[in-house]
Amino acid sequence: MSALPVAVVAIPIPAEVAARLDAVCSAHYVTPGEVAHHLAKAEGLLCPAPFPVTNQLLDAAPHLRVVSNFGVGFNNVDLAEMERRNIAVCNTPGVLTGAVADLTIGMLLMASRQLVRSAAYVSGGAWSSGQPAPPLGFDLAGKLLGLVGFGRIGRAVAERARAFGLRIAYHDTFESAGPGFEDCTWLPLGGLLQAADFVSLHTNLTPETHHLIGNDELALMRPGAWLLNTSRGPVIDQAALVEALKNGQIAGAVLDVLETEPPPPGDPILSLPNAILLPHIGSATVETRAAMLDLAVRNLAAVLSGQPPPECVNPGVLSHALQRR
Ligand code: DGY
Repeated sequence: MSALPVAVVAIPIPAEVAARLDAVCSAHYVTPGEVAHHLAKAEGLLCPAPFPVTNQLLDAAPHLRVVSNFGVGFNNVDLAEMERRNIAVCNTPGVLTGAVADLTIGMLLMASRQLVRSAAYVSGGAWSSGQPAPPLGFDLAGKLLGLVGFGRIGRAVAERARAFGLRIAYHDTFESAGPGFEDCTWLPLGGLLQAADFVSLHTNLTPETHHLIGNDELALMRPGAWLLNTSRGPVIDQAALVEALKNGQIAGAVLDVLETEPPPPGDPILSLPNAILLPHIGSATVETRAAMLDLAVRNLAAVLSGQPPPECVNPGVLSHALQRR
């Protein structure tokens, strides 16, 4: 084993950050597609949050001690398997909360104010050629926003939504959100879906939340309601959503995440006029991505140096993961 632990880094890294990493490990800078070929000696892996860490990859990485996700999500790893192998999983919570909440507000405005159609009406020349303007939008004030998942991001959305005069309901496993959120009402999932004008998803993707919103749940939603998703695509049964959008069962969807990313050409979701689709940009601001990178690098460097990382999803494995094999 070399003096410095080996790490595989599968996200683009600016030179000054690479210098920080190079001080604590011998890093291989690769694309996600190349990771598998560099794992034999790797003790650390820094990868995008959606990068699937399969058993096959883990079998090829007998010395791996830490997977540092560039992102808050960790549905790309099987936590039980990571525990079995004593591999720490680190992520970047907190630093992207504001960016994702801001985007959610943008998505509410896209839904309510015809922003996408209105921009296309101008840039496509329809305004100049005197064609009729897109239909009127509607006010957010007084509408009910239903937040599914009331953790950091759900709460940050609620804080912003108040300023627009939205009423707020939430569903989570706990019923009391505690101080500062007394104006937000807990509802069972079914009740929230029936009552909300907007349903916005802010849960982790777990076996319990996979296809949380399917045929039965979409059937509960109001005909004029919009569904928003900035969490993970598979929280929605996308085939069921396509049918609900086609049938006008709900008014529309604004999705920053899809079941398959990027969507394959010809995916039916791409051709629906009432589906507004974004390319997974919840955290995509210069400031937020820099903060995520800083945290992901600190997580990796800490474990490789035998120190507890700032953020760890499975701290139970740390006593083993901090020791070199
Ligand atoms: C996250 O932080 O998990 C983002 O969705 C990026 O994948």
